Amino acid sequence: MPAPVSVPARRDWTASFARRARTLGGGEITAILALAGASDVITFSGGFPDPQTFPVDVLAGISARLLAQDAAVALQYSATEGLASLRDCLAGRLDAVEGLRPAGGELMVTSGGIDCMELLAKSLIDPGDVVAVEAPTYLGAIMAFRGYEADVRGIAMDDGGLRVDALEGLLRGGLRPKVLYTIPEHQNPTGLCLAAERRKPLVDLARRYGFLIVEDVAYRELGFGAARAPSLWATAPDVVVQAGTFSKTFFPGVRLGWAAGPAELITQLCTAKQNSDQCAGALGQRMLEEYARGGHFDRQLVASRELYERRAGLITAAFAEHMPEGTTWTTPRGGFFTWVTLPEGADTVALTPAARAAKVAYVPGRPFYPGTDGARQLRLAYSRVADEQITEGVRRLAGLIRATLPARAAPPARDGDGGDGSPSRPSGPADEA
Ligand SMILES: Cc1ncc(COP(=O)(O)O)c(C=O)c1O
Repeated sequence: MPAPVSVPARRDWTASFARRARTLGGGEITAILALAGASDVITFSGGFPDPQTFPVDVLAGISARLLAQDAAVALQYSATEGLASLRDCLAGRLDAVEGLRPAGGELMVTSGGIDCMELLAKSLIDPGDVVAVEAPTYLGAIMAFRGYEADVRGIAMDDGGLRVDALEGLLRGGLRPKVLYTIPEHQNPTGLCLAAERRKPLVDLARRYGFLIVEDVAYRELGFGAARAPSLWATAPDVVVQAGTFSKTFFPGVRLGWAAGPAELITQLCTAKQNSDQCAGALGQRMLEEYARGGHFDRQLVASRELYERRAGLITAAFAEHMPEGTTWTTPRGGFFTWVTLPEGADTVALTPAARAAKVAYVPGRPFYPGTDGARQLRLAYSRVADEQITEGVRRLAGLIRATLPARAAPPARDGDGGDGSPSRPSGPADEA
């Protein structure tokens, strides 16, 4: 009989983590992704596109063709900056959409939008460097910059997006950001847009104070109306890097995005990429190129915008019907999100276990702020919730909110949703921002 093997006590490796890794957080994103496949929960949490927008039939044909005719390229490593043929195609698309064609060295392919933030942070941030962000903002970006020990500072927002006047006041007072990160259209998490008249003053500030603007355009092409303000990159390509993703307009499984900006910066991002994933996957790049050259983007975008606009309408109508008095929310003009502010006394982190039990999911407001704001705010993504579940999800959530509000803030219950149903005022990102 073999001698019994003594199993040593399991070592806890967390003590070995780098200092910067210990304070990084990330639990919220992990929790969101964990719900990606949940079928019994009404999931307003992740910024997921609806699978009905995935171009399955078109991709079946493209994949078969690529494997039969172009395997030597599609299954091979690609250049770090991306396949030349795709970059040419994307440059043409930027020219058509933004009215500016990046020169050869001004454009690279990234592995999704988050890759671009990581490469920028890795390339630009020394410990303690200031990164200014909208408050609230995309928490993946906060994490990417914090991962390199940036001092991330929130700048207030209102209905017109980033308060450029507030930024200017801070700059006058001595704040010296190296980078300003902004999501000018249909922002994550608020759904708000940077007003057209604030764009030129913002790039003027970047030129005057010498900071780089990182413009994240994840939802730019998903506006519900025709009007679209000029992009910051097209307005001022000398001080702006545009970071884009195909996760919301093509499909996230492909993990592709782009960065367009000053050539020396793009060269550095490519150097940084060489020791992360080295290059984005060539198969996805060739699929994307064929899809774009086949004219499929513009067809699909029309259908996607229609779908998300309908859902945005359903969710805001459900808020008006079910949310307790004193609740406010943003009215999206594009993208995936609406941002809700609950009455005084609510705590959206404390509410999550009850929401889990009621099988409805959202993201509490706090992680979207670099500071400690957002306690009574929450983000709801309507993008992947079936039309018929949206009202039910809001009804469940409203019931939970009402049940946990301090008595003075909770109006008497009404049949159906337990509230008075009086419509509440749609709003900007609320007083805390
Ligand atoms: C504003 C914003 N930027 C970037 C990303 C990341 O995109 P990707 O999935 O392509 O990494 C997201 C994803 O939710 C986002 O909301």
